[in-house]
Amino acid sequence: MERKDFLRSLGSAAALALILPCAACSSPAGDTSGQPEDQVEDPTSENELDFTIDLSSQDAEPLQEPGGYIIMNETVVVRNLAGDFVAATRRCPHEGNYQIVYDRVNNTERFWCDVHGSRFDLQGKPVNDITTNTLLIYQTELSGNTLRVFNP
Ligand code: FES
Repeated sequence: MERKDFLRSLGSAAALALILPCAACSSPAGDTSGQPEDQVEDPTSENELDFTIDLSSQDAEPLQEPGGYIIMNETVVVRNLAGDFVAATRRCPHEGNYQIVYDRVNNTERFWCDVHGSRFDLQGKPVNDITTNTLLIYQTELSGNTLRVFNP
């Protein structure tokens, strides 16, 4: 029997089983590189976020003035125009990209994602029609020169 006759006699399903590798066996344990992006576990745990910022440090210098912001621990920390501290996750609630930044045009302050253009007020409420999902806003607590950012 020739090879093509042998394969034909097996039928198409059996022939595919011989040709295709085992999908479950193709990745070593713990290797998520082959998984679709939405199935890869988020490396940051927004629910456990709790960190402090030394406002006298050089890293925090943009927070000395209203309208300044820094990005730390995948968090956007803002000193708003009223002088209060506001913090939001960088993770956009539209499709999960870590692209949120602070933006202001004249006196209108927003959190903004440049992937598709979603905008949120400083309470996390969406202000355009890109998404109806709200942006996660963290608590802030000022003690002397130390700003605590946390998720209660
Ligand atoms: S992922 Fe941010 S606007 Fe779409």
